[in-house]
Amino acid sequence: MPTAESTEERVSVPPERYRQVLGHLATGVTVITAYGRQQPLGMTVNSVTSLSLNPALILFCPAKSSSTWPRIRATGCCRINVMAGHHASIARQFSVTDPDRFQGALWTRQPAGPALDDAVAWIECTLRDEHDGGDHSIVVAEVVSLDAAPASTPLVFFRGRYGTFSSCPA
Ligand SMILES: Cc1cc2nc3c(=O)[nH]c(=O)nc-3n(C[C@H](O)[C@H](O)[C@H](O)COP(=O)(O)O)c2cc1C
Repeated sequence: MPTAESTEERVSVPPERYRQVLGHLATGVTVITAYGRQQPLGMTVNSVTSLSLNPALILFCPAKSSSTWPRIRATGCCRINVMAGHHASIARQFSVTDPDRFQGALWTRQPAGPALDDAVAWIECTLRDEHDGGDHSIVVAEVVSLDAAPASTPLVFFRGRYGTFSSCPA
C-alpha cells in the first residue's frame, strides 16, 4: 500500500480535471437552510450523504471558503431541503452570491431552518462534529426529524447541469 505521503508526491490532479471527472457522478441537490441573525440563510449543497442509521447521522461538506457555512454553523442546527425536479432555478439562486437568496422562493418557518415549498424530502438536524477535508470540511449532524413526499421527482445534477430522474423500465 502506498502511504498518503508517497501518493501525494506522485499524484497531482488539476482541480478543474477533478471537478470535471467527478461531475460524472450524478447527485441529488439540496439547499441547506438555517436562521441567521438578520436573515434566513441557505446554500446549495450536493455533498450530502447518509452516514449512520443508529444513531441517525448525516454528513455534508461545505467549502472552507464559504461565507454562508460559518453563519449556519453558528446556529447549531439546519434543515436539509432535498430539491424537486422543478427547483433548478431555486438551486441556482442558492449557489450564487446574492444578498437575498430567498427572493421569490416560497418557504415556511420550521424549527431548524426555512422549509422550501415542494421539497422532495427534508431532514432537520443538529450539528455535531466538523472534520478537516482539505479545502472542504466534513460536517456530521444528528437527524432530529425528517419526512419525504414519495410521489415527487428529484432534481439531479450531472456534468454541471440540472436534470430530473426517470426510472428504467422494469
Ligand atoms: C449543484 C451544486 C452543488 C453544490 N454543492 C456544494 C457543496 O457540497 N459544498 C459547498 O461548499 N458548496 C457547494 N456548492 C456551491 C455553493 O452552493 C455556493 O458556491 C456557495 O454557497 C457560495 O456562496 P457562500 O460563500 O455564500 O457560501 C454547490 C453548488 C451547486 C450548483
